[in-house]
Amino acid sequence: MNVLCAGRMKEGKTTLAIYLAQQWSPGVIIWDPRHMIGDNFIEKENKATFVYTGDELEDAIDDKKWLEGPIIFRPDALRLEQDFQELAHVLFDPPEKYAESGFAIVIDEAAQLQHPQSILPELDVIVRQHPRSVLVVQCTHSLQDWHRASKDLMSALYCFRQVGRSLHMVVEYCDGDEEMEEVIKTLPRHWCMMYNFEAAANEVQWSVLDEPELWYSPATEGIHQQDASGNSSREESTRTA
Ligand SMILES: Nc1ncnc2c1ncn2[C@@H]1O[C@H](COP(=O)(O)OP(=O)(O)OP(=O)(O)O)[C@@H](O)[C@H]1O
Ligand SMILES: [Mg+2]
Repeated sequence: MNVLCAGRMKEGKTTLAIYLAQQWSPGVIIWDPRHMIGDNFIEKENKATFVYTGDELEDAIDDKKWLEGPIIFRPDALRLEQDFQELAHVLFDPPEKYAESGFAIVIDEAAQLQHPQSILPELDVIVRQHPRSVLVVQCTHSLQDWHRASKDLMSALYCFRQVGRSLHMVVEYCDGDEEMEEVIKTLPRHWCMMYNFEAAANEVQWSVLDEPELWYSPATEGIHQQDASGNSSREESTRTA
């Protein structure tokens, strides 16, 4: 199943994506190109394992480190594509490699791996060919950078507050109306709109998730974080729970 978390800076995309992954499977792998995720899973009584290469990822899976908590792949910023290829070969070569056990993968900052006209072949395979037992959650700021494969094959969109062109893209994409536009434009921090692209005709297609304390975890807190310009800052907790 393909899921997308979209929203502006610091709305809580990564935190929600990790929650969705943990709900899906005890086996959670996180692609963390900005090294945003700290070892802050203790509250949930699990501990993250950090890996930096495909070989280390393979060893961590063989050692069943995923039973203790998420396995976090921290790529080298100067070789993002090669590192993602290594991850893809470990997890999806062939695509049905882990179909029986299933797992969930969070691909943070997924816009780095695709543009409207092109997508990294390995991500294309993951998006199109992952088995039903696998959940793929991609995170991005806006749908504008998105490749068609990611858009067409999406099962659900979790959209935080958006404005301007990004807002219009979402509303158009969801075939929404003025009411939806107003709702997305005025979402309070950490709330989001969930659109279910697989809803049956008689089911509710979209709703507002207004209890962020339900999916909060301190996963992205307490470490030095880099913004898009490369500046480092210590993140303050904005916990609402
Ligand atoms: N549901 C929530 N309730 C309260 N605080 C939250 C929630 N989700 C995230 N936060 C806090 O908001 C901050 C940003 O969270 P997170 O890193 O998940 O956002 P993001 O949208 O992925 O940010 P970025 O734009 O940097 O990728 C963190 O301090 C995090 O702990
Ligand atoms: Mg993030």
